[in-house]
Amino acid sequence: MTVNSRRSFLKKTAIGGAALAISRVAGGFAAAQSVSGTARVYVDPVQKIAALDRKVFGSFIEHLGRSIYGGIYDPGSRLSDANGFRKDVIEEVKKMGVPIIRYPGGNFVSGYNWLDGVGPKEKRPVMLDKAWNTIEPNQFGTDEFMQWCRMVGTEPMMGLNLGTGTPEMAAALVEYCNHEGGTKWSELRRQHGIEKPHNVKYWCLGNEMDGPWQIGHMTAREYGRKARDCANQMRMVDPSLQLIACGSSSPGMRTYLEWDREVLEECYDMVDGLSLHCYYRNDAQETGAAGDTSKFLTFNLEMEEQIAEVAGVCDYVRARTRSRKRLWLSFDEWNVWYRQRGGDGGRKRAPRLLEEVYNLEDALLVGGFCNSLMRNADRVRIACLAQLVNVIAPIVTSPNGLIRQTTYYPYTWSLQHARGEVLDLAVESPTYDVKGKGTIPYIDVAATMDGSTISLFILNRDLVKEQDVEIVWREAPPEGVAFSQVLTGTDLKAFNSFENPNKVTPQPLESPKIGTRTVVRVPARSYSVIQFRNGSRPA
Ligand code: AHR
Repeated sequence: MTVNSRRSFLKKTAIGGAALAISRVAGGFAAAQSVSGTARVYVDPVQKIAALDRKVFGSFIEHLGRSIYGGIYDPGSRLSDANGFRKDVIEEVKKMGVPIIRYPGGNFVSGYNWLDGVGPKEKRPVMLDKAWNTIEPNQFGTDEFMQWCRMVGTEPMMGLNLGTGTPEMAAALVEYCNHEGGTKWSELRRQHGIEKPHNVKYWCLGNEMDGPWQIGHMTAREYGRKARDCANQMRMVDPSLQLIACGSSSPGMRTYLEWDREVLEECYDMVDGLSLHCYYRNDAQETGAAGDTSKFLTFNLEMEEQIAEVAGVCDYVRARTRSRKRLWLSFDEWNVWYRQRGGDGGRKRAPRLLEEVYNLEDALLVGGFCNSLMRNADRVRIACLAQLVNVIAPIVTSPNGLIRQTTYYPYTWSLQHARGEVLDLAVESPTYDVKGKGTIPYIDVAATMDGSTISLFILNRDLVKEQDVEIVWREAPPEGVAFSQVLTGTDLKAFNSFENPNKVTPQPLESPKIGTRTVVRVPARSYSVIQFRNGSRPA
């Protein structure tokens, strides 16, 4: 049995009369003292981590495969509107309530000239995209993206080309998007029929510039200086921008953390956030030849280690430069991704690339990632599930409609039920041992509180047994359950398809009897959401 309290690493504490060891430590998972009893979650409305910025449940679309063409933009389709936007996709994304979407890449952005994607469509050039070896018709560009964002009710987050692109052209794009009028680039936008500025606030200064695969890849120092110049010119155009420097593209990089430190030593004072990326696998490379679900389901804890490590580097540079500013983190690419890795589009238009099919175990881990992002709400301000449509995505389209992959459900629960403030829970849980990882709690919980509503998100990593999770209310217990669902099943490899779109879908979770101690029974191999309503707290 372990206790997890986010605030009390490596301390002994007394909860419920029993002296318990704290299990979660930076850089590993310490063996914990064993105590008996069921899993227990202590909910204290006064103990808060931070206000939840819903932008941690953002997403990402890239000019890659069928993400844009055949995904959100499909002018020939009977399912599209007069602009060529797929109406079914718009409806779905609107319903999900995705707060922010990153665009246009990804690797694509590092060779992209934004001028090719604006103005009269018939005059836009057809290009060979060298990131994915794909034919890019440029029929969807910055202005179409802004229009689509307005239609789905999301905020745009723009990626900039710091590979082949120059700081001058990055600043020109800011002027095109954000300046009212009367200057070269703002007038170009107006000539294109868009009178009002788009007012884009969040900008990524390049993409994965530490990666040898990236067009224009450079050293950390070179990139840091370019990012600084870029930020400087962009801020001249619009001082209100929020700028994100490229951090390491994965903890597996040889230059991990060194890259981040050197980049920030060059540009700390000019940026607001630093990016992190990570993709997770259940294969020979990570979990053994046959995969290992018990280990795979611990990877959201690695996400938290990465956040702690990168935040540590930010704070180191902050202290060294005597800066008063504290950077926030943008985990702007994360997902399970290991089956469809091939990135060669064979010089086709909208080829099927990276069309990963997600199964139940992937969805459970995605639930764990959402929990981890909530628990780090005090440092991570933006995060993007990569990606949204067709390419490593929760939504898949065909010419006749769309389906929801398994991962759609945990992600959408966070979008729809995580609200208000994130609570700092103390969690006791039975554990299991994972080779190379130490002792892991079966139960992983996050909670938010929004006025009279407390939502709990529970991952049960136990592949065999259901778990009783006892909720100990530090204040008056709630009055009732407003909503409860669970995603589970007997086959961890089950997935949805156009032939069988509802193979893996949420089921009702039996509502617990409410009392000072409320016991929620969660099935083996499951991710659940349960929303409690408390009439005695102000809404
Ligand atoms: O999301 C797919 C790709 O993964 C992105 O283009 C790139 O940034 C990352 O390596």
